[in-house]
Amino acid sequence: MSNKLEKAREYELKKEKTIPEEQRPLFHLTPRCGWMNDPNGFSRYNGEYHLFYQYYPYETVWGPMHWGHAVSSDLITWRYLPAALAPDEEYDGAGCFSGSAIETEDGKHMLVYTGVQKKEDENGEIHEYQTQCIAIGDGENYTKYENNPVIKADQLPEGAGIYDFRDPKVWKEDGTYHLVVGNKTVDKDGQILQYASKDGKKWEFEKVVIKNNHRFGVMWECPDYFELDGKQLLLTSPQDMLPEELEFHNGNGTLCVIGSFDKEGNFCEENCQAIDYGIDFYAPQTILAPDGRRLMIGWMQNWDTCGIRRDDFPWFGQMSFPREITLSNNKLIQRPAKEIENYYGKRISRQNVLISDSASLSSIEGRCIDMNVRVRSTEADLSYNKFEIRFADNGKSYSTIEYDPAQNIVKIDRKHSGSRRAIVHQRRCKVANNKGEINLRLILDRYSMELFINDGEQVMSMVVLTDVKAEGISFKCQGELLMDVTMHELVRA
Ligand code: FRU
Repeated sequence: MSNKLEKAREYELKKEKTIPEEQRPLFHLTPRCGWMNDPNGFSRYNGEYHLFYQYYPYETVWGPMHWGHAVSSDLITWRYLPAALAPDEEYDGAGCFSGSAIETEDGKHMLVYTGVQKKEDENGEIHEYQTQCIAIGDGENYTKYENNPVIKADQLPEGAGIYDFRDPKVWKEDGTYHLVVGNKTVDKDGQILQYASKDGKKWEFEKVVIKNNHRFGVMWECPDYFELDGKQLLLTSPQDMLPEELEFHNGNGTLCVIGSFDKEGNFCEENCQAIDYGIDFYAPQTILAPDGRRLMIGWMQNWDTCGIRRDDFPWFGQMSFPREITLSNNKLIQRPAKEIENYYGKRISRQNVLISDSASLSSIEGRCIDMNVRVRSTEADLSYNKFEIRFADNGKSYSTIEYDPAQNIVKIDRKHSGSRRAIVHQRRCKVANNKGEINLRLILDRYSMELFINDGEQVMSMVVLTDVKAEGISFKCQGELLMDVTMHELVRA
């Protein structure tokens, strides 16, 4: 083991002990200590789910990237394992960037990641060069392959840029490994490239899977590519987006391209949509669970909103709740993984509650809950203008979800959650027109809110860092409506 990795492992082991459990979310994964960004290497190995993450153990800011590591049998309770990778080779000395993992023929666990190296070019300018590398291990200790990198700039197709080339996602099909990887072209546009290999070590360029054609942002990061419900999906996280109505927003975004293959095996686009319509979600990765479900986890944070932080916390960054994804009418549907039900504690349910002007159900409160709220008009025409759920409320700080049934817009808002930074705190999303009827399912953990709208047609996620004692929840409307609410407290065994 290199000194760098040994040092990281010693450090995280010590530091973790100083972090009280209550200072972390109850069931969203945070870094063992320090900084976390993208999920990496989401895979099954030795009967468990493995999740690695972009990791800088020493500070709560981004630094030379390591890979942190955790395992779980149910995607909700995670156990930390020692850091898996450190930037300790010439070819990855500036960082072990994002990548994926797969079990090999001979029962080993192979990590495929981007190595970043800083080098001077012939004009004396310093650039970061990105290549694809592998490391092979037993689920805890990994050895970097002696002939790394396995894919270099000389294997790039014409027009591909040599600097931005990262985030390989690997899979196996008919005995051959394939991977997709993000690239920024010479004319500064995103594209996804595909490579193939018989043994995981010798790779050949196969094809350009998809080109952005200057539509969604610039560089396309963290691709994922898989079949779902008879269609082929390409997920990616574009940088430097321009806004498009309420579908896409400025900055770093997420994109799901739904398509299918033509006779020649080319990917043909049918529909493009955002993945998460909230504020904090990026770089998701999926896995095929043993029971056939396609599960997705993203970084519940966004590069543009890293200003939402608690300086008193020894960790930064958390993963989203795992989501089961399916397709309906060529649109992405996301639901919280059903394993959540194993964490249900006290249940409270109220049907047909008449809400008019202001009403607060006194028995409803909490910061770790799974709450389903369904509202409808009291008459055939719209009987209300605006419906609001206020949560994480202590009378001074609070966050809200608002539904405008005439405009069919849902808005999440954490402006009053206690943040003192001028970053994005509000976001709106266009939802289906159901004549005043809407279903809102909230997953609240100590420091986040994930909102699943209309049984997963849209999801809006955001970090909320209000003191955990702010547990108040209330419902309000202008006019009157009928509400059914069922809340489960979430508890650890
Ligand atoms: C996405 C990303 C990846 C890169 C990693 C570096 O959030 O920029 O493209 O591999 O983060 O930490």
